[in-house]
Amino acid sequence: MTHQVRAVVARGKGAPVSLETIIVPDPGPGEALVNIQACGVCHTDLHYREGGINDDFPFLLGHEAAGIVESVGEGVIDVAPGDFVVLNWRAVCGQCRACLRGRPWYCFNTHNAKQKMTLLDGTELSPALGIGAFAEKTLVAAGQCTKVDPTASAAAAGLLGCGVMAGIGAAINTGNVGRGDSVAVIGCGGVGAAAIAGASLAGAAKVIAVDIDDRKLDTARKLGATHTVNSKDADAVEAIRELTGGFGADVVIEAVGRPETYKQAFYARDLAGTVVLVGVPTPEMKLELPLLDVFGRGGSLKSSWYGDCLPSRDFPMLIDLYLQGRLDLDAFVTETIALDEVEKAFERMHHGDVLRSVVVL
Ligand code: APR
Ligand code: ZN
Ligand code: ZN
Repeated sequence: MTHQVRAVVARGKGAPVSLETIIVPDPGPGEALVNIQACGVCHTDLHYREGGINDDFPFLLGHEAAGIVESVGEGVIDVAPGDFVVLNWRAVCGQCRACLRGRPWYCFNTHNAKQKMTLLDGTELSPALGIGAFAEKTLVAAGQCTKVDPTASAAAAGLLGCGVMAGIGAAINTGNVGRGDSVAVIGCGGVGAAAIAGASLAGAAKVIAVDIDDRKLDTARKLGATHTVNSKDADAVEAIRELTGGFGADVVIEAVGRPETYKQAFYARDLAGTVVLVGVPTPEMKLELPLLDVFGRGGSLKSSWYGDCLPSRDFPMLIDLYLQGRLDLDAFVTETIALDEVEKAFERMHHGDVLRSVVVL
């Protein structure tokens, strides 16, 4: 059997997205069909639409989602129809070198659904990050579904599927922020704001938020920033040093993805501190640093990939913290929108007006 559902499709480079009817097959072996309840709008969706990832148009956009499993294919034992799940774009294989060496968050044999979803004329769709959740239903590999407490709101839960997990994970998994640490976060969009929440959860004593937009600094305060710096008015490195007794922060998280903020992160950390890079630069960006500074400052420079998360470990834990009132996922949801408003949401995202617009179905 197949299902005809409404979905958001990007047909060509730079063209506005369109709401279309698509065909979703019933799940085959190892697959799950999910009724999507909510899906956040992420920069990566816009990137797909602009042709910045690859040319495999048409794309079925959306990848930050939660929903209810409708049916599962042969051999699926971890999730069952009726389960409330958050989708992930990193269903690890368990057998590659990264998995066997205990670093499954670097597994690149990620599983996606084998069968294709199509347009009505049979054209195969490329689902964004192997998900494609701006749709009433989508087909994924069962390993892309993580069961979480069903009393959580879908709009909040879905956020863990990408940007918010990337930020929280940058702090708690990659940065290993610990009790009493001082943490600086440069760039407080959806990802940086989540890093602030993560640092705060991990027991950081000082959480310094840096951004050039006061609206972002206001939200940062709500999520646990103890100090804020508008780096349009102040030198970010000086300000962070001043706020940390002249030393620099134990952990600095960069969540912008530009050379100048990479450099600030490098110098804003204490000697032997940790820099966590979450902001994704473009291929042409370069940064020059005196080698003696690289040698002399010690510590570590790490990049964080999807928050180095393990969905089956991290998603249920973070949802529990959310339900206990200890992680304010709702603060990330600036607006909820309908499926046909994704294009408008891209516009607002582009202007920095939102942390997250979330499609609610
Ligand atoms: N200094 C400080 N903050 C800056 C600067 C700067 N020079 N330039 C931009 N910012 C701020 C913006 O004001 C905004 O609040 O960085 C934030 C970026 O946030 P978003 O555009 O909402 O992006 P986000 O979804 O948070 O992703 C940030 O992480 O995962 C990566 O690809 C993602 O590179 C992107 C980064
Ligand atoms: Zn693997
Ligand atoms: Zn994303």
